[in-house]
Amino acid sequence: MCSTPLRVAVDAYLMFLETNLLDPKIFPSAKSLEEEAIREIGKLVSNPEAAGYITSGGTEGNIVALWVARKLLKRKNVVAPSSAHYSVIKACDLQQLELTYAALDETYRASVDSIMENVNKKTLAIVATAGTTTLGLVDPIKEIAEIARDFGCFFHVDASFGGFVLPFIQGAPPWDFSVDSVSSITADPHKMGLAPIPAGSILFREKSWLEAIKSDAPYLNKSSPTLLGTRSGASAAAVWALLNSLGYEGYQKIIKRCMDLTRKLADGIQRIDGLDLVVEPELNIVAAKSDVLNLRDVCEKLQAKGWLVSMSSQPPSIRLVVMPHHDPEHINSFLVDLNECLEELT
Ligand SMILES: Cc1ncc(COP(=O)(O)O)c(C=O)c1O
Repeated sequence: MCSTPLRVAVDAYLMFLETNLLDPKIFPSAKSLEEEAIREIGKLVSNPEAAGYITSGGTEGNIVALWVARKLLKRKNVVAPSSAHYSVIKACDLQQLELTYAALDETYRASVDSIMENVNKKTLAIVATAGTTTLGLVDPIKEIAEIARDFGCFFHVDASFGGFVLPFIQGAPPWDFSVDSVSSITADPHKMGLAPIPAGSILFREKSWLEAIKSDAPYLNKSSPTLLGTRSGASAAAVWALLNSLGYEGYQKIIKRCMDLTRKLADGIQRIDGLDLVVEPELNIVAAKSDVLNLRDVCEKLQAKGWLVSMSSQPPSIRLVVMPHHDPEHINSFLVDLNECLEELT
């Protein structure tokens, strides 16, 4: 789910390689770039006032979101759909929270009914996904937000993947801080934001919520509201450079190109006998299923031709993520090879 980072981001990264965000007094410019980058990401997720910081990625963002939730509410149960990224398991495990999985509906999105059945007065947080890892789907955020509001629980939206796609898609379903009860959002620049690894972000609706995890560092005579201590300013500089050089229009162009290629790939797959789409792609992820073929055999054949594709289990399918470094030639030659693999297998 990562792409070749843009040159401007790599240059900014290298310029700030020796900075340490733990100590903004020594590295004030790195700190300013991080604050400005968070403000820009905040604009993309409908809340320029959101408080947050540049993380190492989606896993850290999800851990911190539940950490903050735990500081704010003295409850222990977390409800997430079974499609949630496995980092949610880690986040719960680390903090001894009890995770209950809600079922998916027939479209493979979180079932609102199942979330409703599993949420109660003890629920600390609901986690939903805007851009699921395997199918790229957006859970019904608005409906889930209403449940979170009714039970007074925290609502974290994991948009690690979708956070740098959805803001640029016209007619995307509501998923961000424009939905009233969304408490926090993870959105990773090192996925669709074209930043070098590591670069994620975590944003909270209220500044005071992030302050809840502030710990004193007595030897530095300061406190910091982050999970990590020493953090390179390089990632923040890279994200700042991307947001300022590409701007909204730049990202929009990149996302449109990815979505056009996604359509081309999905159409090509639909034309192949023996394969079908699991769902119509909502973001730039295509999943292909088959009633007649063993998909592992297909993956092996593809690998022999130089294509390393992943398989997912919910439901069994070949998972293809169309990234900014792909071009129409990649899609064409993949479809030719996929066709050949299927002919060899039937
Ligand atoms: C929806 C979602 N959340 C979280 C993560 C974890 O992100 P990272 O690998 O940057 O920690 C991923 C990774 O693919 C993801 O797809």
